[in-house]
Amino acid sequence: MDCSTFVLFGATGDLAKRKIIPALFELFLSQKLPTPFSIIGSSIIEYTDDVFHDHVKSSIDSFSHHSSSDPKMSDFLHLIRYCKVDVTKDLEYERLYSLIKAQETALHISENRLFYLSVAPQFFGVIVKKLQESKIVQTNGWKRLLIEKPFGHDVTSARDLNEKLSRVFDEEEIYRIDHYLGKPMVQNLETLEFANPVLQTLWNNEYIANVQITASEIVGVEKRAAYYEKAGAIRDMFQNHLLQLLMMFSMHFPNGFSAKNIRQEKRKVMEAVRPIKKEDVFKEVIRGQYGPGEINGEQVIGYKKEPGVDPSSTNDTFIAARLWIDDSLWKGVPFYIRTGKRMKEKSTRIVIEFKNTKYNKQTEPNLLEIGINPESEVSLQLNSRNPLKEGEIEPIHVDFTPEQRGIPEAYENILVDALEGDATFFAHWKEVELSWQLVQPILEAFEENLVPLHDYSSGSYGPKAAHILLEEDGFFWWSID
Ligand code: BG6
Repeated sequence: MDCSTFVLFGATGDLAKRKIIPALFELFLSQKLPTPFSIIGSSIIEYTDDVFHDHVKSSIDSFSHHSSSDPKMSDFLHLIRYCKVDVTKDLEYERLYSLIKAQETALHISENRLFYLSVAPQFFGVIVKKLQESKIVQTNGWKRLLIEKPFGHDVTSARDLNEKLSRVFDEEEIYRIDHYLGKPMVQNLETLEFANPVLQTLWNNEYIANVQITASEIVGVEKRAAYYEKAGAIRDMFQNHLLQLLMMFSMHFPNGFSAKNIRQEKRKVMEAVRPIKKEDVFKEVIRGQYGPGEINGEQVIGYKKEPGVDPSSTNDTFIAARLWIDDSLWKGVPFYIRTGKRMKEKSTRIVIEFKNTKYNKQTEPNLLEIGINPESEVSLQLNSRNPLKEGEIEPIHVDFTPEQRGIPEAYENILVDALEGDATFFAHWKEVELSWQLVQPILEAFEENLVPLHDYSSGSYGPKAAHILLEEDGFFWWSID
């Protein structure tokens, strides 16, 4: 890995504290960071290096399984400097530039610079512009941009943002984070499918009846009403994480396993997804919002009563959709996708229901469940004759749960890949654009209230309408326990 400088914009923010700083420390301890390496934290807050170091320690104490009293802590802090930057002010970039250069000289680091924008999206454009004007991005080594979601608010704003970024960074230099792509089981999908002829042979419309992708959450809107009221489940989860899962699951065998080839296959999936016309959204998409209810024995309030939420809000906290991929592998197979807050359980999983054979006895369908979150697991449901029950045929489960301890967190994978220049598990612009194109008519139908807003009780599996969506096709949502 090349020695490099890691500039973190938004270093005092929530994501940095919860995820990025703990991930950097973990990588430092496991010697997965480049050496030498320089980390420069920046935000609008006026901190000294010492105060920022205290912030780093408190992040480790609160959000990692290590402690700030770790003997390696002082070596880690030695890599870290702080620079206050008001991202709208030219002069402040000059100070940042001087610090980057000073550290490069002091630590003998080549001019490889990675800029991580963990800031509110309205600042993405201005930061990139000022990085260019200040010449910070004119390096003798490589430059890379790591950028958090949301990437745009709709198709037009996403294109606009991409245009701004592309004036300064080439597509190969932009690493768009979708933290679902950093999850170990999502990274394992390609291997499960392509390294197992037994599965690969069945991975198509001849054998698969339907595919169900679920990302359900127990948490509600938490303290994020200002953001979530504008985003809804559709922008928060569906346009990015869920469509990424769809692409990773259904891509065809790539012509080699490079980032370029894999991302090309993902793009082809999105190109083959049948668009949903605005006037048809009500038939294919279910919109829901949580009401009060009980979760794990605790009464919780409905969305409209949450602090910061408009009491007459029509925002979606749940969305389910039926999608079709009109290509040679998947034509005729419905893909059911749903996500929601305040549901019964925290679970991200893909369930593949296989078509039934012409066996002359009543059997359950074979199911393959791929658990992504919170546990990584794979479970296969087969039929078996039970000799203790007069030969009755029963479903049995073959389960595999990989060892969870020591598995890198999504953000550790993301940081290592970006530092190594491996873009496989980042979203290419074309994937993002095609996802927005698919979602745009749905957004418009929601905004124009062309789709009913279904209530669901907190602690449930979502609105009844989402179950009817599958029943129309003779299916139902599976959960293998
Ligand atoms: C984030 C969303 O991207 O993903 C959150 O903004 C959501 O609303 C979170 O809670 C879920 O991520 P995970 O990894 O817990 O499934």
